[in-house]
Amino acid sequence: MGSESDIERILYTESDISKRVSDLAAEISADLSSSGGSLVFVGVATGAFLLIADLVRRISAPITIDFIRVESYGSGTESCGEPRISCDLKLDVTGKHVVLVEDIVDTGRTLSRLISYLEKKGASSVSVCSLLDKPSRRKVEVKLVGSGKLYIGFECPDYFVVGYGMDYAELYRNLPYVGILKPEIYTK
Ligand code: PRP
Repeated sequence: MGSESDIERILYTESDISKRVSDLAAEISADLSSSGGSLVFVGVATGAFLLIADLVRRISAPITIDFIRVESYGSGTESCGEPRISCDLKLDVTGKHVVLVEDIVDTGRTLSRLISYLEKKGASSVSVCSLLDKPSRRKVEVKLVGSGKLYIGFECPDYFVVGYGMDYAELYRNLPYVGILKPEIYTK
């Protein structure tokens, strides 16, 4: 388990992702340049580590970067209730514009939890940039804060996807593309 032979089909190639991330960075830069104030990009560990790295290298405005860790899924494929913040921010986000960076929005529970947390911490706006969105799986509405906007790379069909940060049992995160995992891997 953990090798490329476990991938049934590639959904978004490295090149697809690279182009889309460039577009998202341009869009975010244009919006943020008019917002004024300090900008903090917050990656949701672990899944967002590649997206945040690729995104911030395409943004030339002065920004700060932090990470937060939320746990909800364990090693399985289904969400198991209220996400818990297990590793907090280092930076103070009071009065700042925050861009939460995610790999995927599925039920929406992780983002809702994080957005309300950042709002309570005093962020003046909270935007979200996620590589993938699976709207068909949404259980909780994602409400942004202030002038915050939602930036989505791709609307993803409801397959179990891995790669470009996303895992199954902590494996496959290092794949440079997003692929559909063969069902026999997670139904064993
Ligand atoms: C995944 C993903 C999102 C969350 C989305 O994280 O990275 O944070 O699930 O699901 P939701 O919309 O249903 O809440 P996971 O808990 O698997 O941790 P990871 O980032 O360490 O892979």
